[in-house]
Amino acid sequence: MSAATADSLAPEVVAAHLRGRFGAPYLFEEECESTQLLLHGSGLPEGAVAVTEHQTGGRGRMGRPWLAPPRTAVLVSILLHPPPERHLPELSLVAALAVAEAVEVATELAAQVKWPNDVMLNRRKVAGILPELIEGTVVVGIGLNVNQARHELPLDAPTATASLRTQTGTTSDRAPLVASLLAFLEHRYDAWREGGLDALYDELGPRDFLRGRHVTIDGAPGTAILIRRDGRLEVETDSGEHRLVESGEVEYER
Ligand code: BTN
Repeated sequence: MSAATADSLAPEVVAAHLRGRFGAPYLFEEECESTQLLLHGSGLPEGAVAVTEHQTGGRGRMGRPWLAPPRTAVLVSILLHPPPERHLPELSLVAALAVAEAVEVATELAAQVKWPNDVMLNRRKVAGILPELIEGTVVVGIGLNVNQARHELPLDAPTATASLRTQTGTTSDRAPLVASLLAFLEHRYDAWREGGLDALYDELGPRDFLRGRHVTIDGAPGTAILIRRDGRLEVETDSGEHRLVESGEVEYER
């Protein structure tokens, strides 16, 4: 991070980095309950985003909280109006791919997508995606751990967590990072709108974290084969049964 500029996600800092239509309008609160709530029912156009420095009631998947000390993370929600013919659960993968790409540019490390909604760096979760659908509008929430020190990360998370800082040893400017993330998301989302997950598969497939790992799905042990072109996870159980998993959480051997 450059010493001359304060690390901030305020609009006057981020505006210089934004390109494209994602980020217009850019709603910013120094603190809020959850950025998701700033967009639900807002009536704003596609590409509107909400960003905060601190959430008092950050939401994770499966009803879990999403916690980050003030000014350490990227906490952003994006409003989308996906076309009705698209399969909405795929949006988690679209967003996870975009976040992985932004993380790779920021860290020069390879990032992976853990089906269905996590971004991994060095086998640890650095970001999670929360898509919420209300009346045809999707609010995609992204929490990316950036500058937390190790002791500031949740210890009791089901997946081992990390921040970009714990993996690279350096802090990052969050303003260019959030802008880069929005640009990648816009690019991948537009491709998905046109061609579905198939249009992203060449970039997604090689970043498939679970591929070949030993996993447990609904209590049944097996091996993850791959994320399929329709977004489902193919698993071969130890009893030889092939399962196509639509949603949920997969435990994997660390
Ligand atoms: C997960 O459980 O992995 C998903 C976490 C999503 C967290 C983000 S932070 C920005 C947005 N606002 C929230 O309250 N949650 C999402």
